[in-house]
Amino acid sequence: MNVEKIRNEFPILKKNIIYFDNACMPLRPRCVIDKINEYYSEYPSCAGRSHHKLGIRLTKEVNMARDSIKKLIGAKKSEEIIFTKNATEAINLIAHSLKFNVVVTSDREHNSNLLPWQKFEHRVVKSNLDNTFNLDDFSEKVVGADLVSIVYTSNLDGYTLPVREIIEIAHNNGALVLLDAAQTVPNKKIDVRKLDVDFLVFSGHKMLGPTGIGVLYGKENLLNDLNPFILGGETVYDSTYDSFKLEKLPHKFEAGLQNYAGIVGLGAAAKFLMKVGLDNIEKHEKMLKQHIDVEGLEIIGYLGESGIFNFNIPGLNSHEVAMMLDSSKNIMVRSGAHCLHSWFNSKNIKGSVRASFYLYNTIEEVKLFNEELKKLKKLVK
Ligand SMILES: Cc1ncc(COP(=O)(O)O)c(C=O)c1O
Repeated sequence: MNVEKIRNEFPILKKNIIYFDNACMPLRPRCVIDKINEYYSEYPSCAGRSHHKLGIRLTKEVNMARDSIKKLIGAKKSEEIIFTKNATEAINLIAHSLKFNVVVTSDREHNSNLLPWQKFEHRVVKSNLDNTFNLDDFSEKVVGADLVSIVYTSNLDGYTLPVREIIEIAHNNGALVLLDAAQTVPNKKIDVRKLDVDFLVFSGHKMLGPTGIGVLYGKENLLNDLNPFILGGETVYDSTYDSFKLEKLPHKFEAGLQNYAGIVGLGAAAKFLMKVGLDNIEKHEKMLKQHIDVEGLEIIGYLGESGIFNFNIPGLNSHEVAMMLDSSKNIMVRSGAHCLHSWFNSKNIKGSVRASFYLYNTIEEVKLFNEELKKLKKLVK
């Protein structure tokens, strides 16, 4: 992977910033920005209904984008790809479209994969002491559950859960599985068919795509059985004053005119990621992680190989650390509870600093980060 060449694709990197807030939202390559621009300047219409040249062109572009997403995650059919606003909306779609009696999650879920399940009987799998997933606790809690909704890769520390085992155990117990892959799709090769996962959700803006667009993948037979929780234009092919006939997949879930710029931009992002190669991106992040100097830092969560590094400098508030890194050397990190308030509350930790790497980050940037952290550590000695 040629990092210098990749960096040239990201216009904002000319601004001399060190961007380590990728788990929140990475930067966008030129091809994504150009694709959004292309929509507004060349075919700014709506898809699937207008029988004129602009509408026909957009319909083709939307179909191509859906197809790129299908390829990216190894789905069988493009109808199994539902465009949503983001991962949060995709999870809520499932939570509002089906009635579950018992839902199992883990103790390291983003608020988006925790709050929607609290209205059901909700069992939380407790991590092992080293913050890895506890398969024994899971095997007990999954008995009698009808859904396991669990994070694939954690936004806390980049820990990837043993999802193959989780899915197998869940299915053996008759439970469906939803994977929150918001942090996995950007940097790991995923094959939903090999995983045999029932639902998978992710957000465009975390995989180099635009904001305001996300994806719900579902097995065709399951999606066919679900009723949409938002109704309106595009979701039906006919209606009377007191009845309606639902459209087929994927349209029955995509109510109203869509975020077309987001959809075509997401398609461009998917193509870009596949061209660079997700295995290459994953390897690059792991390599960068090895260059972090952890001495004197309090590690938060699991210190694995992934591109997310979560820590505190004892004696310093996480927001102060983030602001000092930004003001001294333009190093941009995230601070606070990372939408994982439940996890932080359970450990009685106020917050932390999260540095997350991506395909355009370099060893030199990590070394500069180490030097700045060294200076900050001296402040509290
Ligand atoms: C693991 C995980 N799940 C869900 C989300 C929610 O994504 P969005 O806000 O794009 O819906 C995030 C965002 O940070 C995340 O990291």
